[in-house]
Amino acid sequence: MPPISRKRATADLVVVANRLPVDRVVGDDGETTWRRSPGGLVSALEPVMRANSGAWIGWPGDTGDVPEPFVDEGLTLVPVALSEREVAEFYEGFSNGTLWPLYHDLVAKPAFHREWWDAYVKVNQRFADAAARFAAKDATVWVQDYQLQLVPTMLRELRPDLRIGFYLHIPFPPAELFSQLPWRRQILEGLLGADLVGFQLTGAAQNFVRLVRQRVGHKTHRDSVYLPDGRVVLAKAFPISIDTEGFEELARSESVGARAKEIRDDLGNPRQVFLGIDRLDYTKGIYARLRAFSELIAEGRLTLEDVVFVQVATPSRERVDQYRILRDEIDRLVGRVNGDLGRIGRPAISYLHSSFPREEMAALYRAADVMVVTPFRDGMNLVAKEYVACRYDDDGALVLSEFAGAANELRQAYLVNPYDIDGMKAQMMEAFAANGRDLTRRMRAMRRTVAENDVSRWASSFLDQLSGTQPTHSKSTRPPKES
Ligand code: G6P
Repeated sequence: MPPISRKRATADLVVVANRLPVDRVVGDDGETTWRRSPGGLVSALEPVMRANSGAWIGWPGDTGDVPEPFVDEGLTLVPVALSEREVAEFYEGFSNGTLWPLYHDLVAKPAFHREWWDAYVKVNQRFADAAARFAAKDATVWVQDYQLQLVPTMLRELRPDLRIGFYLHIPFPPAELFSQLPWRRQILEGLLGADLVGFQLTGAAQNFVRLVRQRVGHKTHRDSVYLPDGRVVLAKAFPISIDTEGFEELARSESVGARAKEIRDDLGNPRQVFLGIDRLDYTKGIYARLRAFSELIAEGRLTLEDVVFVQVATPSRERVDQYRILRDEIDRLVGRVNGDLGRIGRPAISYLHSSFPREEMAALYRAADVMVVTPFRDGMNLVAKEYVACRYDDDGALVLSEFAGAANELRQAYLVNPYDIDGMKAQMMEAFAANGRDLTRRMRAMRRTVAENDVSRWASSFLDQLSGTQPTHSKSTRPPKES
């Protein structure tokens, strides 16, 4: 790919995310090409980025040399390099060993290491520098997620002309948990560089505003933070979604339909197929869910003719200890359950440790009668929404954790507390035994929600709100008297 020319070097809309929306593929001949990764975020932003000569700044996901910025299908891609040590300290360390567990209700114990923090500051500065270089005058910059919480303020210092938005894709914890972080104040101040800070849920935005009041001492009123320099920062919820139409179209395609049938045949055509699809992550509650299911088989409440549980676990963050341990635990559980309860050609759990393209995911959703999504804590959970989008016959049941952001919108799911094994068993049985009318009523309502609120609506409501926020250089706005 040729490097971009000087003329195209600035953009009116810049997205800054830990990952680029492309993967580096090195062919047999040693030649490097880039393959677009089919994430919802990039497909949602693509039209608006094209219209605004957009640029995307991110890490290519490995420690190889990074190429010069280049243009791929109309989008300027700006790769940011991370050294091996930075991957260990910034990505695996502070992002995924400190912030990830801290922001997910301490499902695992966060580690606090000062060297990890130093790497986090250094790498955030690198992203901010790149954004400052590629943003046109008065451009809009949209910073994504927990890996880059210092970027808004770093960027504002370099480029006060910009309009800056930040969106957190994961939960934002209650003040009591967040306050454990030795660098809590720096993180809050980092986020306050944005004009608009977006969260999945209103409760998260409220946690943030409360912390800013308590720990930084700024005046706040409802969703607004009033800074001493007159700037106002808004904190609001924008629940993320999926490309609903795209998923449904895929689900309706002949090839996906045929593949779904093939999957059921390969599974031995049990009466029902239960399905779980998750990144292999300790927040997802995979172990507890499989235990609940296996107890139903062991107790004879379900038989191997009735059901099989297909669990897809996508490899993730494999060098982080807690992820390695989890993988071993699940391997052991699946081995034990199938060893104890399975028969030749009839395992109770069909377990796949791999990632699949969208087409195969859609076929799995089509093949599944009961989708089981039981995270201990999850910002949103898009798998739940994808399943709903694919059930165009208004059938199928969704068993969903109350602690996934999606439960706020998908109220008609079979809601469960993922810590309550007996409760999960009861809801799995309800879903298994539900009559068609009840399933249709529930699915229809959920489909309406997912159709109305898709990812492009999410992106445009964030960007519209951001463009309506007070320009940084305008005169100050005073907080209302009562706050
Ligand atoms: C979550 C995070 C994303 C992250 C993704 C995959 O959805 O919110 O920021 O990119 O997980 O994790 P990874 O560590 O592979 O980027």
